[in-house]
Amino acid sequence: MRARGAVLVEIGRERPYASSRPVEVVDVELDPPGPGELLVRMEAAGVCHSDLSVVDGNRVRPVPMLLGHEACGRVEQVGEGVDDVAVGQRVVMAFLPRCGECANCRTEGRLPCTPGSAANNAGELLGGGRRLHTSDGAELHHHLGVSGFATHAVVDRRSAVPVDDDVPPEVAAVLGCAVLTGGGAVLNAGKPGEGDTVVVVGLGGVGMAALITAVSLGRGDVIGVDAVPEKLARASELGASAVFTPAEALENGLKAPVVVEAAGNARAFETAVALTGVGGTTVTVGLPAPTAEATITPLGITAEARTIVGSYLGSAVPARDIPTYAQMWREGRLPVDALISSTTTLDGINEAMDALAEGRAVRQVVLFDVPGDAPAGAGGGGSGS
Ligand SMILES: NC(=O)c1ccc[n+]([C@@H]2O[C@H](COP(=O)([O-])OP(=O)(O)OC[C@H]3O[C@@H](n4cnc5c(N)ncnc54)[C@H](O)[C@@H]3O)[C@@H](O)[C@H]2O)c1
Ligand SMILES: [Zn+2]
Ligand SMILES: [Zn+2]
Repeated sequence: MRARGAVLVEIGRERPYASSRPVEVVDVELDPPGPGELLVRMEAAGVCHSDLSVVDGNRVRPVPMLLGHEACGRVEQVGEGVDDVAVGQRVVMAFLPRCGECANCRTEGRLPCTPGSAANNAGELLGGGRRLHTSDGAELHHHLGVSGFATHAVVDRRSAVPVDDDVPPEVAAVLGCAVLTGGGAVLNAGKPGEGDTVVVVGLGGVGMAALITAVSLGRGDVIGVDAVPEKLARASELGASAVFTPAEALENGLKAPVVVEAAGNARAFETAVALTGVGGTTVTVGLPAPTAEATITPLGITAEARTIVGSYLGSAVPARDIPTYAQMWREGRLPVDALISSTTTLDGINEAMDALAEGRAVRQVVLFDVPGDAPAGAGGGGSGS
């Protein structure tokens, strides 16, 4: 079938992307879902820094690639053998499918699935190969098994987590990456105890999700650190007990038992390590360029019995954790809506990448027009904060 999607045609074009237009919104061809796969009609898709990192070359992926990995939609067709989701079911995409069979899949989310990671790196689906083609039949890569910046996608069943209809599309989309990653960095990796302060370094979509998750626990102070004043103001509104620029946090000698780094650069990682107190844990979530290097003092780690832990996909089991976050949202304990700084349309995607790169957004969400629903994203295309 024919779909319309946002395809990255070339890595590393100059900013502003509104002028250089590395992402083109074009017609694409989708194969029908194979065995164990789903055809999903997209309703909403969030713009994450991990999309931007493919555009700017920090995270090298094969191109052309249909971007977008934080998305939600409704199942429109199921492939052979899929008997546990029905047509019409709303699903949240998980950006790393878990095969459920490899050794890493038996670690309760601690380690990323081996075949899932290999498929993602190759721009393929977990079942192998691609279901995406350009309109003239050339190869087109999937992004993290999702490619959610499109009207439709074919995904592996294991890349999709059902959610109830009461979770609106834009909230459901953001559960798939920002909340799963940021929330999991706190709940699954940092695991603050009673009274423990949690510091979050980097307050974009992922870091802000970590912050609201820590606030919802109510175990101790939650402190936000970012260089952008608007991000600090937002963190205060969302319940941070204090906010600092990185320089202020370091000068104040701030130390905490749990520090989450969600900025994605080596300086922020160094800051997060420096803010971690005796016996504390630094959880690093950001994905800097593969060549980025950081400096830390080994003696401090040893003598202070500190831990540095990497967390991918929120160290999560998406099928277990996404319903938990949906329930926290439902009960009013996790204000996921507050992470959404603006909405846009597929045609506004280059502008949205600029806004993200310039620190003007927390989470921007692309809304799709779905027949039968009220028009979504009408008048969008802008991408302010
Ligand atoms: N581990 C995972 O599974 C996973 C999942 C999603 C995203 N990510 C990565 O997490 C990072 C954050 O993603 P996002 O979408 O929230 O990005 P974002 O661009 O929305 O947010 C990053 C924030 O970090 C701040 N920042 C930059 N340098 C800083 C510094 N030195 N000190 C303090 N703050 C600083 C920025 O001002 C910005 O607010 C990215 O690297 C992204 O690729 C990882
Ligand atoms: Zn993401
Ligand atoms: Zn696996």
